[in-house]
Amino acid sequence: MSNSLQMMRISHISPPADLPRAFKLDKGRRISLGEVIPKISSCLVTDPQQGSTSARPVTRESKEVMETERNVLVGTYARAPVVIKSGKGCKLYDVDGKEYLDMTAGIAVNSLGHGDPDWVNAVVEQASTLTHVSNVYYSIPQVTLAKRLVECSFADRIFFTNSGTEANEAAIKFARKFQRFLHADKKLPATEFIAFTNSFHGRTMGALALTSKKQYRSPFEPVMPGVVFVEYGNSEEAIKAIQPGKTAAVFVEPIQGEGGIYSAAKDFLQALRTACDNAGALLVYDEVGFT
Ligand SMILES: Cc1ncc(COP(=O)(O)O)c(C=O)c1O
Repeated sequence: MSNSLQMMRISHISPPADLPRAFKLDKGRRISLGEVIPKISSCLVTDPQQGSTSARPVTRESKEVMETERNVLVGTYARAPVVIKSGKGCKLYDVDGKEYLDMTAGIAVNSLGHGDPDWVNAVVEQASTLTHVSNVYYSIPQVTLAKRLVECSFADRIFFTNSGTEANEAAIKFARKFQRFLHADKKLPATEFIAFTNSFHGRTMGALALTSKKQYRSPFEPVMPGVVFVEYGNSEEAIKAIQPGKTAAVFVEPIQGEGGIYSAAKDFLQALRTACDNAGALLVYDEVGFT
């Protein structure tokens, strides 16, 4: 079937069975301070007011910020009723000076914590040396970082982007171009993509098409056609779905983050690698990056 949206065998996604999971979330449980933490997802399309309905007492300063936020920002997030003002290392402080342990590290990206002195020095030094130049010029830090990443990773070359979703947009384009280049003699080279149940690849239209969760996609449909979803961890189904001349690339999260911390088994990833090699398709690992 050419249109994967018709081919999606899943109307809702449930966690895949038999996959290793690092921990279980106990949603809505009471914490020691006796406060009810509302069910929050930073990425779900939820009622933006939902996060502010908690029983947590809200001080005047916090309330002002929250009310102003409602008037000046587009309501795309259900936020916890906490106004964070500063951070140091793994600690966060709200406008009332209350201290929190930062268990989310931004959105799983602040691996050095808040205000790391070496990181601060590097940012200040670069910002005061050269703020930004277009990619039409060469720039020393860009080349230095790329060289370092090539030296300490599997990659032969680096492509810098501003976000995870743009990395996937780039991978979609690279895959299409790769197939076109490889099969220049063919009228219609492979253009389809395979992604997995429970996946999250970003919010731009291409990455959204690779994201299985209905609540992310449905408000924006039609998204990019040509994506087939296979059950995460199911090697047999994946091997069947990866077709020479049809599949341009397979997108997989070795560890599903947004989906709920599910890790792929080594055998599954190995099966994808072999099937992609056999079909002349690319295998794209979507892994979370760190600042
Ligand atoms: C696996 C994965 N891919 C893509 C993204 C999108 O990244 P960004 O929010 O930087 O666009 C995320 C974000 O959480 C992610 O976890």
